[in-house]
Amino acid sequence: MTLKSATVQTTPYEGQKPGTSGLRKKVKVFTQKNYTENFVQCILDANGSAISGSLLVVGGDGRYYCKEAVEIIARICAANGVAKLLVGQNGILSTPAVSSLIRHNKAYGGIILTASHNPGGPDNDFGIKFNCSNGGPAPDGVTDKIFQLSTAIKEYKIVEDLKIDISKIGTNCYEVDGKPFVVEVIDSVENYVNHMKEIFDFGKLHDFVSGKKTGTPLKARIDSMNGVTGSYVREIFLNCLGATPDSVVHTTPLEDFGGLHPDPNLTYAKDLVDTVAKGDYDIGAAFDGDGDRNMIIGRNAFFVTPSDSLAVIAHYLECIPYFRKNGIQGFARSMPTASAVDLVGQKLGKEVFEVPTGWKYFGNLMDAGRLCLCGEESFGTGSNHIREKDGVWAVLAWLSIMEHTGKSIEDILKNHWSIYGRNYFTRYDYEECELEPCNQMISTMEKTITDPAFKGREFSSLGKTYKVKVADNFGYTDPVDKSVASKQGLRVVFEDGSRIVMRLSGTGSSGATVRMYIDSYEKDNVLGKASEMLKPLINIALEISDLQKFTGRTAPTVIT
Ligand code: G6P
Ligand code: ZN
Repeated sequence: MTLKSATVQTTPYEGQKPGTSGLRKKVKVFTQKNYTENFVQCILDANGSAISGSLLVVGGDGRYYCKEAVEIIARICAANGVAKLLVGQNGILSTPAVSSLIRHNKAYGGIILTASHNPGGPDNDFGIKFNCSNGGPAPDGVTDKIFQLSTAIKEYKIVEDLKIDISKIGTNCYEVDGKPFVVEVIDSVENYVNHMKEIFDFGKLHDFVSGKKTGTPLKARIDSMNGVTGSYVREIFLNCLGATPDSVVHTTPLEDFGGLHPDPNLTYAKDLVDTVAKGDYDIGAAFDGDGDRNMIIGRNAFFVTPSDSLAVIAHYLECIPYFRKNGIQGFARSMPTASAVDLVGQKLGKEVFEVPTGWKYFGNLMDAGRLCLCGEESFGTGSNHIREKDGVWAVLAWLSIMEHTGKSIEDILKNHWSIYGRNYFTRYDYEECELEPCNQMISTMEKTITDPAFKGREFSSLGKTYKVKVADNFGYTDPVDKSVASKQGLRVVFEDGSRIVMRLSGTGSSGATVRMYIDSYEKDNVLGKASEMLKPLINIALEISDLQKFTGRTAPTVIT
């Protein structure tokens, strides 16, 4: 089919600034005239001449507006000289699957359509994110450039007449301005499933999950929350591992996630938590809309904090063939994540890195061969098999550990704490606050905690006293390319290693979300109730930040 590109005049939109993980806005913002077109053109322009003749992967979590966005992207890519697109069938690709596809196909990059864990549907969120050739989210340098370009864009190029049926797997060939342009619509799950088979011992996992090993099938409840993982979960857990059909739920990706808020935490995955609390399950797991986050719970809904999940996986890495084959390099966590993994790293003599919030900060360390496992308190866990966090991978890692130890999830944790001690951890979220008072709160608190007199101050609550050791606004210099990220969150570290961290979310689409993280380490007192153990430090955090005064909130919206 022979087609011609056209140049369309446009004017800039304000606020096309990618946040922690891409540009996220309400669907109604993206559907404004030229809004999506502008942003996609800026993504391509930010990459300069390298776009010409390139291969890009395109897909998303299936939320409302994904299919339309895929078409716009294809038309704009065609007009800008991209040679080929790999597009997931019906536009469906999980974020980890895109990362894997970019790497396996040596693509120039990928465009992911998702607002991750934010609700979907016409009145909710949409998002566009650009990933680079290593399979990871574009670094700040690239996203800053995209934003700069978006403030001055005057025109975009498009092939208006390009039509693709993305519901059919197959290769579509076109000629655009005299050059070939190919759109290959691919199976959404095949490459990813094969990748998982290379990493894990599917034979062992099959015998464990199906009951061939123990005599009884594993009782699992894997909840895709109507997000993109449904397709992957059915193939992996039912077809490959022989799980019983009722082991997987909410596995049809829906445009509005069936009204669910697809964020795997104790609040939004309440249905999973309640069901596992009541029922006879060995493991419960949930993922977010685009499949990069995970939550793991054990029998009776025993909650594994993401910080602990990372540390436990680090401890047992050797039971996963991928790590036996490729070796164990360093570990990493984001700054607000509790430091449980640091203790495993120390014991194993591995480097442990503390990076700002955002998966993109792990990429350079992985590419440099210094990092093989990392995680974040925000329910992200993953390894250097790709450059995104990976929810399904995390569940397969946990199943491998359960198979290897023969222990329940609760016993695996108790054993871990008895070796390393325990980091009690909680995060309070205050969602949809007014932005200005929140900015004021952060700047006031920054002044307070960076005043030299703050160091050494003592704070007491409920009979516990904490003395300030260091306090700052976290800054990070990338050990590989020396790029600097400053003002990444306020942290107060006390003499006993306990910490209070405060930052504003970078992933919301309106207003401000305050995140308050509390991390309290106990060497011996490891079997307490987290909510009680953490009360004194929570009170102190509220006191130092004056949160109630600034936000008007007396309670968080979400506690994890
Ligand atoms: C996304 C990123 C994560 C990051 C999280 C933080 O999920 O992929 O790497 O930890 O956002 O979100 P926040 O809302 O706290 O900025
Ligand atoms: Zn996500």
